[in-house]
Amino acid sequence: MVVSVAVREGIARVTIDNPPVNALSRAVRAGLAEAAASLSTRADVQAVLLTGAGRAFIAGADVTEFDAPPQPPHLPDVIRAIETCAKPFAAFIDGACLGGGLEVALGCRWRIGTAKASLGLPEVTLGVIPGAGGTVRTPRLIGVEAAVDLATGGSPLTADKALSLGLLDAVVADEAEAEAWLRTAVAGDWPAAVADRAVSLPDAGFWAEAASRIARTAKGNTAPAEALARIRAAAEGDFDSAMAAERDAFMRLRDTDQARALRHVFFAERAAPRPPEVRGVTARPVHTIGIVGGGTMGAGIAVAALNAGLTVRMVERDAASAERGAANVAAILDADRTRGRITDAQQAEQLARFAAARDYASLADCDLVIEAVFEDLAVKQAVFKELSAACRPDAILATNTSYIDPRTIFAGLPHPERAIGLHFFSPANVMKLLEIVPLPDTAPKVLATAFAVAARLKKIPVRAGICDGFIGNRILKLYREQGERLIAAGASPDAIDAALTDFGMAMGLYAVQDLAGLDIGAAQRQAARARGEAPFAPVADRLAAMGRLGRKTGAGWYDYDGGKPRPGPLPAPVTEAIAAVRAETDLPQRAWTAAEITDALILPMVSEAAQIVADGIALRPEDVDLVMVHGYGFPRVKGGPVQYGRALGIAEVVRRLEALHAQGLAPAPAAALREWS
Ligand code: COA
Ligand code: NAD
Repeated sequence: MVVSVAVREGIARVTIDNPPVNALSRAVRAGLAEAAASLSTRADVQAVLLTGAGRAFIAGADVTEFDAPPQPPHLPDVIRAIETCAKPFAAFIDGACLGGGLEVALGCRWRIGTAKASLGLPEVTLGVIPGAGGTVRTPRLIGVEAAVDLATGGSPLTADKALSLGLLDAVVADEAEAEAWLRTAVAGDWPAAVADRAVSLPDAGFWAEAASRIARTAKGNTAPAEALARIRAAAEGDFDSAMAAERDAFMRLRDTDQARALRHVFFAERAAPRPPEVRGVTARPVHTIGIVGGGTMGAGIAVAALNAGLTVRMVERDAASAERGAANVAAILDADRTRGRITDAQQAEQLARFAAARDYASLADCDLVIEAVFEDLAVKQAVFKELSAACRPDAILATNTSYIDPRTIFAGLPHPERAIGLHFFSPANVMKLLEIVPLPDTAPKVLATAFAVAARLKKIPVRAGICDGFIGNRILKLYREQGERLIAAGASPDAIDAALTDFGMAMGLYAVQDLAGLDIGAAQRQAARARGEAPFAPVADRLAAMGRLGRKTGAGWYDYDGGKPRPGPLPAPVTEAIAAVRAETDLPQRAWTAAEITDALILPMVSEAAQIVADGIALRPEDVDLVMVHGYGFPRVKGGPVQYGRALGIAEVVRRLEALHAQGLAPAPAAALREWS
């Protein structure tokens, strides 16, 4: 029974038990409707305490049902039945109460939580809006301003915050206390049903201000603006019309490409942490992490680990570098404190768990050591030799290399079962992606521990196989080459960046290169050329050779004043470099529309993704999408390149790629891509 009823001394306890998170499947909705109907006439019941078994009250609508037509009983009707039941309902919330779960709670007369309660309307994060009264009842219960924050922001509230807003009526220690609270409440005057309460209208100007705030922060997601419009209609109009309009909008949004893409990312994020090799394997405990190298990546990884409560020991090549590494860590923590992300006390506590030295002996107790030194094989090999001598034989040894084959880094070292690649992204304390790269000898326990550490650091882990650039940088390489091809064929870098940001990329291709530093890419290409490859970046190579290395030199693809791009036309040295490259190319010159630019840059990613999966470098297409969304700023609302390609139709992607290929503007579509169509 997914919904059970037990009556004791006048209180009916209705329990939803639908693991893992009590999503409102059809069976749960039917069970709740049936409970409301049968309890309304039971003489031995004065009130109903509605609870969820396990870790959630109700996590929301069952998202797995969103791709099929809705089945009755529909949630708005079930909630109305609860709200109008002759026996008043109280929700007892001892965990997640999200989306449809909060809408059910809003249909109750009272909401009683514990400190573990988390209440929210996250629908917009899935590209939809609440569909069962969330935008209609919240303004009636907590006022328009708080309702707008809840429904358009999507972030859940803690129990304390919910209590202060009136979303919860009480916070109790446990269910026994909730039941006692309900007995007292039911003996007094009952509050009006939420649907029957009046809304006080906000100040003039509120709606316009909220709309412009949402437009600034929605990242192309249309759902928050729709949620705002529904709340406004609910505040200014009658309950029934607002409910009908909300349901219509919910049904319309549910079937959009955007909502499908956001569902795709939601489920991909939940599948990625559990690759087949780690199922049933217990991770080793990790308390102390060593980090070798305190530069950009080492310092960021250190902060990610400190934020997660781990102890961190950093090793640098000499005392002055160790001091610089410690200063890098302190600077990130300072910035976090200034932005209000951590308090003074938290900063002090984190720094107390950190030490930097030049001596490998300080790593003797580490459970895991992550190397983040220069991208140079000999330097990395020397570091791991030292680590093999200094660390416990069971300590996990990881490299953060971007491009070097981890097998060559670890070759010949003892205990190969403990070696792994952990590829973080910059800034490592902010970026969510972590590519986890097992070697042929990596033990399942070591791999499982890497995934557990990722969870601890709140990263999205994606298992990646060994190839040049793993998943993400392999696609990035192609993306950059495509950009250079477009420039050679007549597109300008600023038009390319504008097309990409319009598409939804977090930053343009050339703005990113300026941020990362053109010397980094140039060094990577030099290493690739030494390996016999022929990377194509004639303009970037020229700019790097001129010393235009990006923001850090005040000039790269763009010029910078005080760290901000200088408005106006492209700098003369850049247009000259482009003209020189165009003079050398046999690609035809032409004008490019924004749509043609994004096709030429994004569609090759879809093809490469298919090849990456076919090569076994990614376990699933969804993993490639996660890498691009969480590591490279691909718009979440488009779901990643594979989801984008699927929405367009793989046959259409192949057709457009063939046309580009025929003009010398893209590689031929991969055979693996044709197999997807
Ligand atoms: N519908 C269907 N399945 C859901 C779900 C939902 N609303 N919410 C969670 N799940 C599933 C997950 O896919 C996962 O399934 P799996 O184990 O087969 O992979 C499982 O429940 C556990 O979810 P997970 O996120 O890994 O657990 P958690 O304890 O870290 O987080 C929640 C629990 C409820 C906070 C989180 O799952 C969540 O935010 N869910 C979505 C809530 C939501 O957006 N509701 C509104 C829907 S419109
Ligand atoms: P960085 O130059 O900022 O830092 C490297 C640090 O390593 C320096 O502080 C240096 O003093 C230290 N170091 C050098 N040799 C050492 C040795 N023998 N022992 C101890 N410390 C030593 O470089 P970074 O950007 O942090 O990159 C580090 C690694 O991370 C590289 O392998 C790089 O490819 C990889 N990576 C970088 C990025 C990025 O965006 N910067 C992203 C992912 C991965």
